[in-house]
Amino acid sequence: MIQEERLWQRLMELGEIGRQPTGGITRLSFTKEERAAKEKVAAYMKEAGLFVYEDAAGNLIGRKEGTDKDAPVVLVGSHLDSVYNGGMFDGPLGVLAAVEVVQTMNENGVETKHPIEVVAFTDEEGARFRFGMIGSRAMAGALSADELNYQDANGVSVAEAMQEAGLNPHHIGKAARKPGSVKAYVELHIEQGRVLEEANLPVGIVTGIAGLVWVKFTVEGKAEHAGATPMPLRRDPLVAAAQIIEVIEQEAKETGTTVGTVGQLHVFPGGINIIPERVEFVLDLRDLDAAVRDNVLQSINEQAQKIGKERNVKVTTELLQEMPPVLCSELVQNAAKEACQKLGLDVFSLPSGASHDGVQLVGLCPIGMIFVRSQDGVSHSPDEWSTKEDCAAGANVLYHTVLRLATGE
Ligand code: GLV
Ligand code: MN
Ligand code: MN
Repeated sequence: MIQEERLWQRLMELGEIGRQPTGGITRLSFTKEERAAKEKVAAYMKEAGLFVYEDAAGNLIGRKEGTDKDAPVVLVGSHLDSVYNGGMFDGPLGVLAAVEVVQTMNENGVETKHPIEVVAFTDEEGARFRFGMIGSRAMAGALSADELNYQDANGVSVAEAMQEAGLNPHHIGKAARKPGSVKAYVELHIEQGRVLEEANLPVGIVTGIAGLVWVKFTVEGKAEHAGATPMPLRRDPLVAAAQIIEVIEQEAKETGTTVGTVGQLHVFPGGINIIPERVEFVLDLRDLDAAVRDNVLQSINEQAQKIGKERNVKVTTELLQEMPPVLCSELVQNAAKEACQKLGLDVFSLPSGASHDGVQLVGLCPIGMIFVRSQDGVSHSPDEWSTKEDCAAGANVLYHTVLRLATGE
């Protein structure tokens, strides 16, 4: 059994880094907050007896050798970056539980055939550059040089941010793992929804991860005087954007499974007495079935063009990122099922609506996830919470899952 108090104390300690006056956490990639979080976790990794290093993408890694050091490695982890004003469990729970798992093994003299690496991935959330999973993409060898040109709100590119953090963007390819070198990837994460709470269960096993697209819409009209321009003469892009956002809601609702969100919208120039000239917003659209999601997107695009014509404004779109839905492997799901049975916990499976680094790693290795109950299902919010007991239950399931994967063939 893992040490519940130690895990909880570290979660609380790490949860102070990037804390905002609102109570939420803002810990964006390649910032001093993220650096502080990495330093803290590196110290925990050392306490756990791990060999600690950072790869070319800034992924923080702690390694426990296997009895066969050439055997493929079992990767366990999550991320340390957050969304703007997020919670303290999304990411850190998975990293700290992974540290706790190997520390418990080391303290009990448990050896495994396969090496185990605890990983804290660089920029899972995509909050800073509107493009995420940078560390896991790099590890999968799937990050292109172009993608390092994405810019944050201040015009700083991923490549520049990497340089500021002491990393060489030209070396990003070195973070790629060789095919066959990773046995499996397992991540413990909070559910971020209400399914486990409804089922009255602390832990669940993830069957698959929904696929998402992020599409930036730009609507261009004409900036004019808010007092002097009669209503019929206006070309107001914000009203058109409002109509498009309503279409997004309707189209997603009709499927019963797709979820569509506009969480970011900028109005230019942003004056009270100026009809806007331009509006930009980003659509986040997800479904476990890529075809269903893509049909919804097509319909949204068609209707957006129609609205643009009717209102005499120009609507253009840009695909920011796309991730296919991904199934969790039988290998990891079965190991997690056995772990639940060993611990006397119900075996309960559920899909993930949120996206995770495993999506990027499927080309490299079998992946799987274990979920911990989220209080009221809330996440990406300062109110995000999971109890100490539930976190410990999840970490114990992770322990036996990793042990099974690292000792088995
Ligand atoms: C990541 O947390 C996402 O699903 O947006
Ligand atoms: Mn998140
Ligand atoms: Mn997360």
